[in-house]
Amino acid sequence: MTFIAVALLAAAQLATAHFGIEYPEWRANTLSGNTNYSQWVWPCANVPGNLPNGNRTDWPLTGGSVKLDLHHPWSYVFINLGLGENVTVFNYTLTPSLVNSTGNGSLCIPSLPLPADLSVSDGDLASIQVVTSGASGSALYNCADITFRANAKALSGDDCKSDEGVSFSVVTAEASNSTNNTSTPGGTNGNSASAGGVNTLVLTSVVGLAVAFVYGVGV
Ligand SMILES: *[C@@H]1O[C@H](CO)[C@@H](O)[C@H](O)[C@H]1NC(C)=O
Ligand SMILES: *[C@@H]1O[C@H](CO)[C@@H](O)[C@H](O)[C@H]1NC(C)=O
Ligand SMILES: *[C@@H]1O[C@H](CO)[C@@H](O)[C@H](O)[C@H]1NC(C)=O
Ligand SMILES: *[C@@H]1O[C@H](CO)[C@@H](O)[C@H](O)[C@H]1NC(C)=O
Ligand SMILES: *[C@@H]1O[C@H](CO)[C@@H](O)[C@H](O)[C@H]1NC(C)=O
Ligand SMILES: *[C@@H]1O[C@H](CO)[C@@H](O)[C@H](O)[C@H]1NC(C)=O
Ligand SMILES: *[C@@H]1O[C@H](CO)[C@@H](O)[C@H](O)[C@H]1NC(C)=O
Ligand SMILES: *[C@@H]1O[C@H](CO)[C@@H](O)[C@H](O)[C@H]1NC(C)=O
Ligand SMILES: *[C@@H]1O[C@H](CO)[C@@H](O)[C@H](O)[C@H]1NC(C)=O
Repeated sequence: MTFIAVALLAAAQLATAHFGIEYPEWRANTLSGNTNYSQWVWPCANVPGNLPNGNRTDWPLTGGSVKLDLHHPWSYVFINLGLGENVTVFNYTLTPSLVNSTGNGSLCIPSLPLPADLSVSDGDLASIQVVTSGASGSALYNCADITFRANAKALSGDDCKSDEGVSFSVVTAEASNSTNNTSTPGGTNGNSASAGGVNTLVLTSVVGLAVAFVYGVGV
């Protein structure tokens, strides 16, 4: 009985935890049936790179927007970048700190700056890899191919709206460091990276992502 309940719960989570990339256009719709694609497969859900007539979106030279369609009450989101036409190595991160998304629906991150040590030129090809992970720690993958363009712009206004109740926060080591007794008990209220209060701030602030260089947070 218990086993069946657990199995059903696991199946329900599998069904809901998958996600889509709304912008830039993803390599392929990995949510539709009748394909060999699976979001469980690293690095890009089993969608080959450099597909003939594949989607490729112009993206600004300094970094741009990413819009996701999330199907889970919350998930950790990692966004990585790889250079080239047919990318297999995603060795740059656009989310140097752990991003925790809350809510079910569209999440638009207005601007993800490139790492400071990476400079790209007009016409350079690259791919974006989005990884989501939930409480179990298992990860799901999707990719989108881009061309860096000097005249490309990040999404703004209505083009970059998150659905109501969908937001993200940046998790710092402090927020998850239960041994740091100098923080106020039971809360991260005064903490600029608290999961609750800062969502709007982070959403409207590129700087929120850029300055929070905290590595080594376990998932
Ligand atoms: C391109 O993007 C569209 C819209 O997101 C998607 O439906 C399609 O599967 C993608 N891939 C290809 C190869 O067209
Ligand atoms: C899935 O892969 C198998 C084996 O490579 C192939 O025969 C089949 O046509 C593929 N299906 C689709 C929908 O691409
Ligand atoms: C892309 O790279 C993969 C892995 O290196 C390779 O198997 C594949 O043939 C390449 N595809 C194209 C279209 O270059
Ligand atoms: C997500 O939203 C859809 C439509 O609003 C709803 O049917 C579904 O139950 C929600 N899922 C979760 C996990 O909240
Ligand atoms: C990332 O990988 C590419 C080739 O796959 C390589 O040219 C580049 O130097 C690597 N960058 C870093 C920071 O490791
Ligand atoms: C991520 O967000 C969820 C709900 O929004 C919360 O339960 C969880 O504790 C958060 N994780 C971290 C590390 O802050
Ligand atoms: C511990 O908390 C204090 C006060 O909130 C903060 O200044 C400090 O950076 C934290 N230390 C660590 C290691 O997170
Ligand atoms: C957590 O806080 C303790 C006490 O301040 C500190 O020694 C430790 O380095 C912190 N760990 C992390 C991952 O920040
Ligand atoms: C943190 O505080 C708890 C009780 O408030 C105490 O038992 C524990 O020893 C403290 N840990 C450190 C590393 O100071």
